[in-house]
Amino acid sequence: MIDTVRDLDTLRDRVAGWTRAGLRVGFVPTMGNLHAGHHSLVRLAREQADRVVASVFVNPTQFGPNEDFARYPRTPEADADGLAAAGCDLLWLPSVETMYPYGAAGAVQVRVPGVTDVLEGAHRPGHFDGVATVVARLFNQVRPHVAVFGRKDYQQLAVIRYLERDLAFGIELVAAPTIREADGLAMSSRNQYLSPDERPRAAEIHATLQAMREGVQGGAPSEAVEAQAVQRLTAAGFDVDYAAVRRTDLIPAGGDERGPRVALVAARLGRTRLIDNLEFET
Ligand code: PAF
Repeated sequence: MIDTVRDLDTLRDRVAGWTRAGLRVGFVPTMGNLHAGHHSLVRLAREQADRVVASVFVNPTQFGPNEDFARYPRTPEADADGLAAAGCDLLWLPSVETMYPYGAAGAVQVRVPGVTDVLEGAHRPGHFDGVATVVARLFNQVRPHVAVFGRKDYQQLAVIRYLERDLAFGIELVAAPTIREADGLAMSSRNQYLSPDERPRAAEIHATLQAMREGVQGGAPSEAVEAQAVQRLTAAGFDVDYAAVRRTDLIPAGGDERGPRVALVAARLGRTRLIDNLEFET
């Protein structure tokens, strides 16, 4: 059974003890409902550190008013078992009151400028403020040496890199590869919202990202590739928020099609909003 800690003093004691003993502490923040993708983050943290802490906290401040906070899947027992099996030493399970002692409305907020205004930020106003606010708190609570985040949330990773550097946490950030189902669908807790009819169609997102990569690598202008991707996904029954080709710092490539690129898609299939991305060279 995994060591589960719910109060901040105990967490601090445990981690400080490890640090005093010269052990390197790794950290994997999550919102629970863990799948093979999360377990791979824990295994990667295990490779980078002597002890691994994972947090499970469904953060209310990163959900918009019409988003899925209330129905976000909560599976605490399975999460604890999966974390232990993946090699996690401690599960940090804060309550909302521990995370936000002054309540969500009274909380000191962290806002990362620039990178949060585009793509996900434009479609989910306030989302990245909630992410940056809770990740800053988690970093302060856990005080790890290294933290692992998935590349699937590409823009989130960029936001956290900025946050870590600007607030000088001194935490090494490691980006983990996206884990996919056999048909290419990126693993996500939200995949379980898909109906049996929608599930096979969801693989179209990864296929579209691959087509975007081939288009750009074949010399097509980004704008044309993006328009084709929107058409393809719309024809497959998606409601598309964006299909974009960007430099890896998320700035539009403009006329210059050379260098490292990332194709990103966010689209809704029925009630389920899915995001994915693919990095490539041109
Ligand atoms: O990626 C997630 O699961 C969440 O956004 C995170 C980083 C745990 C913050 O709540």
